[in-house]
Amino acid sequence: MELREAIRKRRSVRRYVKGAPVSEEDLKGMLEAAMMAPSANNRRPWEFIVVESEEKKAALAAAHPYAGHLRDAALGIVVLVPGPFEETGYRFTPQDAGAAIENLMLEALDRGYGTCWCGIFPGRDRTEAIAKILATDLVPVGLVTVGRPAEEPAARGYYDEKKVRRI
Ligand SMILES: Cc1cc2nc3c(=O)[nH]c(=O)nc-3n(C[C@H](O)[C@H](O)[C@H](O)COP(=O)(O)O)c2cc1C
Repeated sequence: MELREAIRKRRSVRRYVKGAPVSEEDLKGMLEAAMMAPSANNRRPWEFIVVESEEKKAALAAAHPYAGHLRDAALGIVVLVPGPFEETGYRFTPQDAGAAIENLMLEALDRGYGTCWCGIFPGRDRTEAIAKILATDLVPVGLVTVGRPAEEPAARGYYDEKKVRRI
């Protein structure tokens, strides 16, 4: 798929074909794409937790108010970075995580999967609850649900000239 087409075709998918797996090759491709993202000072601070077990998927879905679709997804990928963000060295890490997430989602689309980005940080309750479930000191920034899409949502993104100022 051409990049331009992929960017315009991407949708947040919240209904998945239950039981349809993600192949090892495709999973590795998505993680590789995430790690190809730009990163401040090339620190590459992110880590990824692939959540596949029904038990952990259910626990995360219960801890996040808007990620119920993780239950039917093949898997979830949590993108984590070190904090605290006030300290030099860590300040840009949430942005690094965002860039990695977008790359991951576009690669997944190209491989025939639907995804949905579910924000975790800076929601304090869900950040703490999810870090605890994952048994990590890192900050979980976002969760991406991944699976074969069972819906074709309409486009929500569009070009808006009013958002652009040229000087
Ligand atoms: C930082 C961030 C957090 C988001 N959190 C959630 C979420 O918790 N649950 C969810 O279903 N969608 C979430 N979304 C998806 C947005 O709702 C979605 O991108 C937006 O409605 C536009 O739709 P589209 O992605 O299909 O273009 C999030 C997106 C971003 C970028």
